[in-house]
Formats: sequence, C-alpha cells, structure tokens
Amino acid sequence: MPVIEAIKLRNSNALMTEADVDPDVIRQILDAAVCAPVHHRTNPWRFLVIRGAGRKKLGEVMADHLARDFDDPDSPKNVKFLEKIRKKPLRAPVIIVAGAAKSDKEQVLMVEDVAAVSAACQNILLAASALGLSAFWRTGSVTYSEHTVTSLGFDKDTELVGFIYLGHPKKQMPPKTRQTAAEFTRWMEY
Ligand SMILES: Cc1cc2nc3c(=O)[nH]c(=O)nc-3n(C[C@H](O)[C@H](O)[C@H](O)COP(=O)(O)O)c2cc1C
Repeated sequence: MPVIEAIKLRNSNALMTEADVDPDVIRQILDAAVCAPVHHRTNPWRFLVIRGAGRKKLGEVMADHLARDFDDPDSPKNVKFLEKIRKKPLRAPVIIVAGAAKSDKEQVLMVEDVAAVSAACQNILLAASALGLSAFWRTGSVTYSEHTVTSLGFDKDTELVGFIYLGHPKKQMPPKTRQTAAEFTRWMEY
C-alpha cells in the first residue's frame, strides 16, 4: 500500500479480541519500529513485550502506582477502583511498553531520544495496521513514574513513551475523516 494511504487509513481501534498475537509477528513489528530516525545512533529504544499472565503483573504495577496517592487505599471505594485498574491491561492480548534509554554520551539530548522512540511507536502502529492488527497507544500518569520504570525492569533513568495495546480487531473501523494541516502551517519563503 502506498505509504501516504497507509498513514491515512491507520486508526486506533481499542476493541480487540482475546486471540493472541504470534511472537514472530510481534518481532516483525518491533523490527519495523527500530527503523525510526535517530540522532547520534543511540539506539534508545527499549521494549518490554507483555503477554499472557504478564498482563496481570502490569495491572499490579499500575494499581500500586495509583494506590500510592491514596490516603486510604483500603477503603471500599478505592479497593473497587484499584480492582478496575488491575484489569486494564486485559483489554488486549499484548502490550508493548516503549521506553527511551538515557545515553551516556554527553552530546545526546534526552528529548531527541524520546522523539526517536515516539517515531518508533508510530512505526509500531503503522506496522500493526499493515498486518491487519489493532494497536492503541496509551499513557497516563503511570507512564511517567520511576516506580513503573523500575518495576517493569527498565533502567532507572529510562523515560517511558507509551503502552501500546496490540491485538486482533473485534471489528474493522471505518476510516476516519482526517483534517488537513493547512490551519496549523505557516510558510516562510522570503
Ligand atoms: C503519547 C500519546 C499518549 C496517548 N495516551 C492515550 C491514553 O492514555 N488514552 C487514550 O484513550 N488515548 C491516548 N492517546 C490517543 C490515542 O492513542 C489515539 O491516537 C487517539 O484516540 C486518536 O485516534 P487515531 O490514532 O485513530 O487518530 C495517546 C496518544 C499519544 C500520541
């Protein structure tokens, strides 16, 4: 499919079946991810592929993160809320956590490596779409917490960029009407 058409037809479809995704397909998607542009050849991409019971562990990490802000995590209301949070990762058979590792080269700006990993995330979405899969990029406060980073086994100074939920679509979504860029664009020509 021509690349512009592929970009325009991709959409975020959160409704996925329980059916697993072949690990070789996940590897194919991640190989596409790391074709993203990157400054200083830092290879900042760090991926954690979470499947099966691993999703329950992610649910625990998410609930623990949120519970830390509660005065009383054991109140019936909070217990119920945290139970709901624990189930969030079960919305897809696979979750890819994408992070940007901190480079030890002095000239490297973290913001550029986060940008590179963001481009890698878009590659994941596009590759998934090309393979007939659904993918949905999620974040939330859990993404930006050192507790999450270390609980998921990333190096402490890694910045997480997204949780990409991946699976087979329950049903195909019609293409979205996409806006044009004109109103967000200025041209400097003289
Ligand atoms: C960095 C980033 C974080 C996002 N986090 C969430 C999220 O936590 N929850 C959510 O519903 N959508 C989130 N989104 C938006 C969806 O992934 C999706 O892009 C949006 O629903 C628009 O759909 P589209 O991709 O089909 O245009 C996020 C997008 C980005 C780029």
